[in-house]
Amino acid sequence: MLQSIATTHRLLAGLIALAGIALPAPAASPVFDVEASRQQSIYHSRGETRPEGYVIDRGLAAYVLALMPGFESAVENLGPTDRWLDIGAGRGQAMIDYHSPAVEVDETVRTPLRRKASTVAMSIEDRRTEAWYRAAATVEPARMRYVFNKPLRDFTSDELGGSFQLISDVIGGFSYTDNLTRFMEKVLELMVVNGSFYTVHQDVMSELGNNKPHYPHEPFLTQIRDAGNKDISICAWLKQISCVEVVCQSKSGWVPPIQTFRVRKVCNETAVPALERIQYISGTPPQRIFRSPAPAKTSAAP
Ligand SMILES: C[S@@+](CC[C@H](N)C(=O)[O-])C[C@H]1O[C@@H](n2cnc3c(N)ncnc32)[C@H](O)[C@@H]1O
Repeated sequence: MLQSIATTHRLLAGLIALAGIALPAPAASPVFDVEASRQQSIYHSRGETRPEGYVIDRGLAAYVLALMPGFESAVENLGPTDRWLDIGAGRGQAMIDYHSPAVEVDETVRTPLRRKASTVAMSIEDRRTEAWYRAAATVEPARMRYVFNKPLRDFTSDELGGSFQLISDVIGGFSYTDNLTRFMEKVLELMVVNGSFYTVHQDVMSELGNNKPHYPHEPFLTQIRDAGNKDISICAWLKQISCVEVVCQSKSGWVPPIQTFRVRKVCNETAVPALERIQYISGTPPQRIFRSPAPAKTSAAP
């Protein structure tokens, strides 16, 4: 049911976009409030009411397949003093997989070979299952945490226990947030210099801009427009952030096709370009349009 509502909304959005009708900027609009409340229903859906498209149980192997090559070695290279945050973790299966077994044991001498990094799984809704509690029971509590009840932007660094060497997001906050600028600011604030953020987005304009939306008569799932209202890729927007190195790659074999992104923080003076939310239509993920604000008009010289 939820899915069909989301689909209907998406179709309407496609028609509106095709007709070239500009929706009012929904900073505090009733339209946005309705969509935000529908989105909350999706987050908190359980059992049969959970839309099929709202996948919450991808494990570590699925993360490796979905994210940019290099993610797997980034995980393998984490040491015991390192920290990994997964934004939009669903059930936290990737971290359950990472911590199982909690330590690699050399059977010949029965000693741990390598202690693992500390992990924080983040979700808006609490999706922990028995499997989570079982895995967490084998790890010191501070080394396998699950935080929930609010979006990334509302967590402080203290609440999350400090900064991170690795941050991942597989169809989590990056695909769902209504404020992409604040989201990226927070990611970079929480990441150490030389830390990397790995994420992915389905059905969006590629870096080269030579692909088309996957579904006929529907727009890309997330669109970004420059101040002149021209569509630019998410990759091009990420590359406008200062103090980061960005790599973007299309991955074939996915339906809809996906774009993967790695953002490495290279210094502390990061600045993320502002985007206004033009449209947010609830869904799995939501359909979003963001736009760079028009440059402020300079007053004419007297
Ligand atoms: C479709 S599920 C993906 C779960 C998991 N990554 C997977 O692939 O199975 C989306 C997840 O993102 C979370 N989420 C959405 N927006 C978020 C935000 N702004 N901050 C943190 N988590 C968010 C949801 O609560 C949920 O846990």
